[in-house]
Amino acid sequence: MEANIQKAVDIILNSKYTIAFTGAGISVESGIPPFRGKDGLWSKYDPNVLDLGNFQLNPIESWKVIKEIFYDFFGAAKPNAAHFVLAKMESMGLVKALITQNIDNLHYEAGSKEVYEFHGNSRMLVCPYCSKKIVAAEIDLTKMPLCNECHAVLKPDFIFFGEGIPEMAYRKSFEAAGKADVVIIIGSTGEVYPAANIPPLAKHKGAKVIEINPEKSLFTETITDIFIQGKASDVMQKLLNGINQKI
Ligand code: APR
Repeated sequence: MEANIQKAVDIILNSKYTIAFTGAGISVESGIPPFRGKDGLWSKYDPNVLDLGNFQLNPIESWKVIKEIFYDFFGAAKPNAAHFVLAKMESMGLVKALITQNIDNLHYEAGSKEVYEFHGNSRMLVCPYCSKKIVAAEIDLTKMPLCNECHAVLKPDFIFFGEGIPEMAYRKSFEAAGKADVVIIIGSTGEVYPAANIPPLAKHKGAKVIEINPEKSLFTETITDIFIQGKASDVMQKLLNGINQKI
């Protein structure tokens, strides 16, 4: 077993409260591109599509693009080995909570239960006026979706730029970070706040930080104790194999 995988396995097996913190990178092998970087979503689409003011001014045009990216494209994606290993580790009692910046539902689809969706989710649509929530899969998105109570334009239940973090996810994420003795960061640049404050908070309280990413991130030189360079699915499978060899 590679030395840093071995170290990570020992740390996880000796931990009382390991949390995972995931970003777009964990879903790359499910076919969902990351946001940033050369092949990132924001090199193809105008990030303005997630600007609340723009959405309110141009809802029909905005919904066409939102449907294409977040429902047609993301909607076809399936969880990969990294999502499944995290769910398995939770069921083994080795991961207590999973904080994700992703809105793609793949952690739930893989079977994780204690998931805090820090940026919301695409599963539901929400009415900005009466707050009614509707399952997106039950709505015909070829037309701009309207609330059947107050007829306002529905919005995906994930946050647009400048919107606040969903209250419950925010509270639970920071609570979990405060309790954690190990954080596994998978596939996040650490560029987006306040999410990027979560691993440093845990580190500050004494947690060990294991990071998995093919590239260095803003976390790597600042808070990471063990950097495992590689793709999420490869590394997570190696971690699980290492764990299984030791228990
Ligand atoms: N396995 C693991 N990590 C990977 C892989 C892979 N196969 N492929 C790429 N990565 C890494 C990249 O090296 C990068 O560090 O995933 C990271 C993706 O970075 P971002 O696209 O910036 O994603 P993230 O940090 O989750 O962005 C945060 O930005 O636009 C917002 O709300 C959006 O939640 C998102 C937030």
